[in-house]
Amino acid sequence: MDRLYIFDTTLRDGEQVPGCQLNTVEKIEVAKALESLGVDVIEAGFPVSSPGDFNSVIELSKAITWPVICALTRAVENDIDVAAEALQYAKRRRIHTGIGTSVYHITNKLNSNPDEIVERAVAAVKYAKKYVEDVEFYAEDAGRTENEYLARVVEAVIKAGATVVNIPDTTGYCFPSDYAAKIKYLMENVSNIHKAVISTHCHNDLGMATANSLAGIANGARQVEVTINGIGERAGNTALEEVVMAIKSHKELDIETNIHTQKIWETSKLVSTLMNMPVQPNKAIVGRNAFAHSSGIHQDGVLKNRENYEIIDPKDVGIDENSIVLTARSGRAALKHRLATLGASDISQEKLDEIYQQFLRLADRKKSIGDSDILALLGERENVQKKIKLDYLQVLCGKRVRQVATLRIDIAGEKFEHTASGNGPVDASIKAVKNIIQRQMSIQEFLIQAITRGSDDVGKVHIQVEYNGKIYYGFAANTDIVTASVEAFIDAVNKFAI
Ligand code: KIV
Ligand code: ZN
Repeated sequence: MDRLYIFDTTLRDGEQVPGCQLNTVEKIEVAKALESLGVDVIEAGFPVSSPGDFNSVIELSKAITWPVICALTRAVENDIDVAAEALQYAKRRRIHTGIGTSVYHITNKLNSNPDEIVERAVAAVKYAKKYVEDVEFYAEDAGRTENEYLARVVEAVIKAGATVVNIPDTTGYCFPSDYAAKIKYLMENVSNIHKAVISTHCHNDLGMATANSLAGIANGARQVEVTINGIGERAGNTALEEVVMAIKSHKELDIETNIHTQKIWETSKLVSTLMNMPVQPNKAIVGRNAFAHSSGIHQDGVLKNRENYEIIDPKDVGIDENSIVLTARSGRAALKHRLATLGASDISQEKLDEIYQQFLRLADRKKSIGDSDILALLGERENVQKKIKLDYLQVLCGKRVRQVATLRIDIAGEKFEHTASGNGPVDASIKAVKNIIQRQMSIQEFLIQAITRGSDDVGKVHIQVEYNGKIYYGFAANTDIVTASVEAFIDAVNKFAI
């Protein structure tokens, strides 16, 4: 079997999404999850871009043992110096350097010409080689780069010492047939291609990232650059779980990865929670409906034989159907076990007791408790430590009545009350909060999601609030969506108003 290397860029390309930034502690948590998932390479950041990124690469390098730690640079000497410094503690390290190769990038962005770009690419690889043996080169916007010129660049950087060459479809423009032809062209026309691994890096702007990556693999690429849940700027990157499960399901490809697929589900949950990025319910592999059969014909067929309607056994991605339902009769041990599978394993007895009490209260109102409820409870517990808290809320709403909200907020122990009206209960409540907080802020994004399907469900609210030119993110969950909305708003406000 041929080996496909999994290069995870959740913490670099994935983390570029506005509102999804992680602190270093959270990045280490994700990196450790990626390590136990079995990824080969972790792209830890772009060290020259900020002191925060620099520091994260240092800390991840110290914390991670097995995967290669990779740092991104432009084809600029100072970037490479900074990346090499950030990687000093990595047990296995790689510098990922590169430059734009499409006509758009060469002329409009770099104000250069094709010959000079080849020179700069070669110089960057040679410079990076002074620090590390493992140098990956990316030809930015390779998707829109003419194949003949791309082959010239690839040949030159391999000659300069590149061990991996990344062919990004930066704008997500290619059709699978174009991308397949591109990789095939390189495999057939670059004389030294056998000296390097060719890597795919596909963006999902036209919904074809996974298809393009698989097309690249079918034509000889042996590294794939991916993110958990396909997160990333705009429409995102190629989803790790999709490529890995496609390869695993199609045995005829005769390709294997090192991914422990049973860890996919928990890793997906961890990334979604920490990055405040809900997974769409119908998302392949990790959406909550990915294995839910609702039609009678399908249910009947699956009961007779799972393979009638399922190409993947849910257990293969870590969904253990027997452990899904937690109820009011579940004990602390069951809750603790579930928290651990969701990535919260270092919870003290005292914290567990606190969450357990909230869990029992919720279980009293709701028939069964799912993973999202548990994660929401974790978030609720964190709210207790917030300076600004919702103390009391009453709303009057319905048809042909004035929508009015009265609420009380606790700001560092002092209580403030206000009543406001609006075009609905949420609007009225938020106006009341704004009246108390008295800052110039505006809501930029507001998303309410039900977690399961029943009317007793927990609603999750994600909100983005603009204040002083910056966006602050808030999240809350509650069986009452008005309360969840106000708490999500307050969660965001807590990030700048204290
Ligand atoms: O999409 C892209 O081209 C990239 C490169 C910087 C690797 O993310
Ligand atoms: Zn990218």
